[in-house]
Amino acid sequence: MHERLTTAELLAALLSALLWIVFFPVWLVVQMLYMAHLIFASRKLGVSATALSPMTMRWLQHQLGLRRDEACAKLIKVLPNHCYAGLHAAAIPVLLGHRLTGFVPKKLRYPYEGIPPPGHSSSVRATFVDAAIERYLPGVEQFVELGAGYDTRTVQLQHNQRISCFEVDLAKTQQMKRERLHQCGVDASGIKFVPANFLTDNWLDNLAKAGFDPRKPTFFLWEGVTYYLSREAMEKTFRTIATMPPGSVVVFDYGTDANLKDPLCHLSKAVLKAVREPQTFWISSEPPVKKNLAALMDTYGLSLSEHLNYGRETKRKRAFGGLAAAVVK
Ligand SMILES: C[S@@+](CC[C@H](N)C(=O)[O-])C[C@H]1O[C@@H](n2cnc3c(N)ncnc32)[C@H](O)[C@@H]1O
Repeated sequence: MHERLTTAELLAALLSALLWIVFFPVWLVVQMLYMAHLIFASRKLGVSATALSPMTMRWLQHQLGLRRDEACAKLIKVLPNHCYAGLHAAAIPVLLGHRLTGFVPKKLRYPYEGIPPPGHSSSVRATFVDAAIERYLPGVEQFVELGAGYDTRTVQLQHNQRISCFEVDLAKTQQMKRERLHQCGVDASGIKFVPANFLTDNWLDNLAKAGFDPRKPTFFLWEGVTYYLSREAMEKTFRTIATMPPGSVVVFDYGTDANLKDPLCHLSKAVLKAVREPQTFWISSEPPVKKNLAALMDTYGLSLSEHLNYGRETKRKRAFGGLAAAVVK
């Protein structure tokens, strides 16, 4: 369904497009320098570069007053693997366009409505995940963010007296996040940070050592991670989650093998290789993906409860990925 724009919205969109045209050459240079520095600095520090991409989306949504995330706004200023001034400069066309006209590009909207094309995956992720947290949190006692990156959801959730919060990530990325949260004055004292590598470690053992109770229903958030893992690690993680008590849920996103045929994929592949975070795991894009995913979840002992494709699936066009929630049977 195409949404109808009012005349004011159309004018705002046109003015914003004009700003983009004016700023584009400068934006391109800034963006390239920003990315080059991000790749270089992340490699040098041995921390995640890709985690900055969804964080930037949440930061922009915060800057535009769509989704408040003070902790994100503070943390992003002090992360040492990117240049905050560069990020701000690259965001000028969007921020200025919004200030002058109130226009919000669809890519950034929150809450996101409708079926998102693949390019809108980051902003729809925020909408899908926030809604899932609201829906499933009343039924759980623990919240575990697997591959948490620089997400700051637990900063708020830690104040929920009923919920114990845990974050799992690779040691260096997690250590840097903890240090920088402390540096920018964000209280994370109620969050248990658990280092683990999904490819080589038993992350559940590490969680248990930090006070996680496998007998309590748990919300697992696994956002922006599955495609970086091997099939074996991905399957092991789903099967481990399936051993949790009923009421437990995992919310995750995934990519499909349609990405491999996309010409733009070569560019992103090169960037991801450069930051040593190559994407390796893909779900079959054979339509309908929802059916494949439901069958896959079933084999792991989970039941698919929600699903959203990136892009419309037709006989000729395949979905590039999507978002899902699966509950323990
Ligand atoms: C694209 S980021 C997503 C971060 C966060 N979930 C978000 O959506 O903002 C991927 C995250 O997964 C983590 N990760 C990737 N491979 C991992 C592995 N083998 N074990 C543990 N964490 C991993 C990275 O360190 C990074 O923080």
